[in-house]
Amino acid sequence: MTNPADNTLTRIENLLACPSCLKPLNLGDGYISCSGCGARYPIQNGIPLMARMGIPDVGRQVFSGVDGNTSDPYQQQYQDLREAAQYNAEYKQKFFKRMSTRREFHILRRLLAGQGHTQVVLDVPSGGGRLSMQIAPFTDLLIEADIARGQVEYGKNNSRISVPQIWMTASAFCLPFHDNSIDAAICCRLCHHLPTKHERDALIIELLRVSKKFVLMTFFDYHSVKNYLRRIRQPFDHQLPKMTMKRQEIKDLAAQHGATLIDAPYLAPFSSGHRYALMVKSGARV
Ligand SMILES: C[S@@+](CC[C@H](N)C(=O)[O-])C[C@H]1O[C@@H](n2cnc3c(N)ncnc32)[C@H](O)[C@@H]1O
Ligand SMILES: [Zn+2]
Repeated sequence: MTNPADNTLTRIENLLACPSCLKPLNLGDGYISCSGCGARYPIQNGIPLMARMGIPDVGRQVFSGVDGNTSDPYQQQYQDLREAAQYNAEYKQKFFKRMSTRREFHILRRLLAGQGHTQVVLDVPSGGGRLSMQIAPFTDLLIEADIARGQVEYGKNNSRISVPQIWMTASAFCLPFHDNSIDAAICCRLCHHLPTKHERDALIIELLRVSKKFVLMTFFDYHSVKNYLRRIRQPFDHQLPKMTMKRQEIKDLAAQHGATLIDAPYLAPFSSGHRYALMVKSGARV
């Protein structure tokens, strides 16, 4: 018997593409199968498990000779529901009382409002659903995806919004969607966890690939006051450098992949180095 979550899944069946080979996916009873490579992705408790672990292939070509760390270990965190629940409890305490969170939410809503109402939005990584309530008013359907099963289960168990939602595991590097299939992809607080430029670039390219209208993401700005101070202190405190990007790099990547960077406000200019980047796909301006 199909449950209500599976019925919601039928709404996006035409949008789904295999995270391995990008061929169309078909919904089965308790699984999703690939019409190309034959891969089968189980659906458990209404959650399709489509996460491909590992570092990205840019343009579907595997990197060779990438030095330094990768985000592999970070992808393994929060797979377990208990770990995810503990993380979300701490995360809420850390964030919800802060003025900067209110500001972050306010800017997020302003940027989304500027793009008009959408049919389908993807929030990746959704974590435990911290942003769901802020995004919900701007879409008819919210897809919440995270590489960690525990996070997705936590989000599903604790959701309090009335807009239809679909939860799935997925890697932001290999999104299970066709090119230009969803209206918008939102990607908050992942980029600054990615240790190489290759991964950060690959993330943006993949978000732009699946989005028809716009991508809204956060990045830690190399030129922020926070990072400037950190760089000055570095010879003395030997703290590791932050995983940063420059506004110009994002602008260039956007341009190379059919979009324009139209806004990049700081979440909080002096107390945080995080910025949003709003990239609008060509021909999609409202
Ligand atoms: C700091 S949380 C941010 C969650 C949410 N966007 C927010 O702002 O509250 C980062 C999340 O990224 C997830 N993650 C790590 N690597 C990922 C990847 N390659 N694809 C999708 N999610 C990933 C982790 O499981 C974690 O839930
Ligand atoms: Zn396939």
